[in-house]
Amino acid sequence: MTTRLLLLCSLTALLLFSYVAPALSKEAQGDADDDEDLRFLEEPEDDTGVPSHHYGDEYPDSDQFGGEEFDNFSDLDESEIDQEAFKEPEIDETDVVVLKEGNFSEFVEKNRFVMVEFYAPWCGHCQALAPEYAAAATELKGEEVALAKVDATEEEELAHKYEVQGFPTVYFFVDGLHKPYSGQRNKDAIVTYIKKKIGPGVHNITALDDAERILTSESKIVLGYLNHLKGPESEELAAASRIEDDVNFYQTVNPDVAKLFHLNPDVKRPALIMLKKEAEKLSHFGGKFEKSEIAEFVFSNKLPLVSIFTRESATSIFESPIKKQLLLFALSNDSEKILPTFQEAAKLFKGKLIFVLVEMDNEDVGKPVSDYFGITGDAPKVLGYTGNEDSKKFVLDGEVTLDKIKTFANEFLEDKLKPFHKSDPIPETNDGDVKIVVGNNFDEIVLDESKDVLLEIYAPWCGHCQALEPTYNKLAKHLRGIDSLVIAKMDGTTNEHPRAKSDGFPTLLFFPAGNKSFDPITVDTDRTVVAFYKFIKKHASIPFKLQKPTSPAKSKKDGEAKEGEEAISTGMKDEL
Ligand SMILES: *[C@@H]1O[C@H](CO)[C@@H](O)[C@H](O)[C@H]1NC(C)=O
Ligand SMILES: *[C@@H]1O[C@H](CO)[C@@H](O)[C@H](O)[C@H]1NC(C)=O
Ligand SMILES: *[C@@H]1O[C@H](CO)[C@@H](O)[C@H](O)[C@H]1NC(C)=O
Ligand SMILES: *[C@@H]1O[C@H](CO)[C@@H](O)[C@H](O)[C@H]1NC(C)=O
Ligand SMILES: *[C@@H]1O[C@H](CO)[C@@H](O)[C@H](O)[C@H]1NC(C)=O
Repeated sequence: MTTRLLLLCSLTALLLFSYVAPALSKEAQGDADDDEDLRFLEEPEDDTGVPSHHYGDEYPDSDQFGGEEFDNFSDLDESEIDQEAFKEPEIDETDVVVLKEGNFSEFVEKNRFVMVEFYAPWCGHCQALAPEYAAAATELKGEEVALAKVDATEEEELAHKYEVQGFPTVYFFVDGLHKPYSGQRNKDAIVTYIKKKIGPGVHNITALDDAERILTSESKIVLGYLNHLKGPESEELAAASRIEDDVNFYQTVNPDVAKLFHLNPDVKRPALIMLKKEAEKLSHFGGKFEKSEIAEFVFSNKLPLVSIFTRESATSIFESPIKKQLLLFALSNDSEKILPTFQEAAKLFKGKLIFVLVEMDNEDVGKPVSDYFGITGDAPKVLGYTGNEDSKKFVLDGEVTLDKIKTFANEFLEDKLKPFHKSDPIPETNDGDVKIVVGNNFDEIVLDESKDVLLEIYAPWCGHCQALEPTYNKLAKHLRGIDSLVIAKMDGTTNEHPRAKSDGFPTLLFFPAGNKSFDPITVDTDRTVVAFYKFIKKHASIPFKLQKPTSPAKSKKDGEAKEGEEAISTGMKDEL
């Protein structure tokens, strides 16, 4: 569901692109190779007489999206939302401020604290958020904060300026400076977050029953055991609390309260402890009692040692400022055996790496995530992942032991590992007109500096790819005699490479010879043999001459070739 919503959001862009692209390319082609007779390229021959597919003519269908695969690992990060449920009630949005291009800047400058939601009217998550957001605005009425919204489909420039890439995007502005709000999208979470930002930051615990209530109701707590509730110690604690969004900070001077929070009442004050309801429950602070050290300590200790990957935990995993993740893939059966080792390792890398357990046999999320990462087999595997922006993967080979995880994690942190790609086996023979590229021969074939390479990334189930195939094969056949040119294809569902980014199937990329360290050129022409040929001719680093097809008829002279029918099978000339 979430996947679909995200896709929807990017559909507009895709649509635009697919309509515009062919038009542009036609124009561009007009002046190139004008005098070259390429009609022969268009002729159906043998069994290849299938009309070529014109990408821009149609509404993009599901083929162009990743099908059942996750288009983005983080798409999992929210629980499913039933859009219908949010359409009925009328929402009272009177306390939500509407902002437009014309008054946005003035408003966020004039008001010290402003939360802004960029939304799109058709976006399901935005509709779900609307009543919660409105209720939060009402609850916070009278506080020194405003909750505002911007229709990003109308205020495109604003959305662009604030790098809005998905909906809803929520920012919190303090004195005109903004930070994304990445907490949960409900009234309580929003109110807690805002109160923390605008409030005192640290709450007092004086009575034991308050302490007990807080201990039972909250899952993550920081307690400072201080000499005074006012003054420098308390101020440092409050400042640290403002840096940290999702942990509540308390302070006390009461030894009984301290004891209840597992602190020795006789400990030297100020002391600080963090409590979690997880495997590792207590973390004692041993640093200098000042804001940045406290904030850093809380940051490193607030995540569980090992997060189990679920729909709920995905948000904190992906939105953590720590981007590098160490993922353990194991059957739920095995995880009891292997998890203690993994936890042991996790203790050494707190605040540096996120340790995640993916239960491979969990049908809901574990299985799709394992597939996404190309994990096969039942044995436990450890993978390093650099997060969705960079999305590099590294595999720990062999048996999973504490020592090996430690070494691997250290090398991962120091960027010393070699990335891993999903790959089919390298084909034993590969001498067809269209070369088969897989993850593990990509460097050798596509990144060969001595060749101009055209690569199609396809999916076996994709209709547009199937429609393109005859055209592509025909192109390859015509060009097979040219040594400097490689026409290749790769199954993008079972192979990957960081240099082969596809945003749908098929994706066509051109890698000019001698220039392989640059990004490839996206082939955005019509999907006909002639258009492809002209594109290659224009962009190839190594000039080439098209060879005459071996045909029963003898090739004609230039003049005749231009005249028509006879030229069809033989009309070969390459005037460059
Ligand atoms: C900003 O401008 C819009 C359109 O003119 C108006 O509807 C809205 O109330 C204004 N907001 C504020 C806070 O002035
Ligand atoms: C905590 O107690 C101190 C000392 O009584 C007081 O100054 C401060 O305002 C209290 N903080 C809160 C958040 O109530
Ligand atoms: C879990 O382990 C038991 C016993 O070792 C085995 O019989 C069972 O098939 C395993 N289950 C899975 C899902 O692997
Ligand atoms: C995947 O999600 C991340 C974080 O949400 C985003 O930065 C990235 O651009 C997304 N990638 C794709 C291919 O959509
Ligand atoms: C290599 O590719 C870059 C980017 O497409 C381009 O600017 C540059 O001119 C190319 N260099 C050569 C030698 O083709």
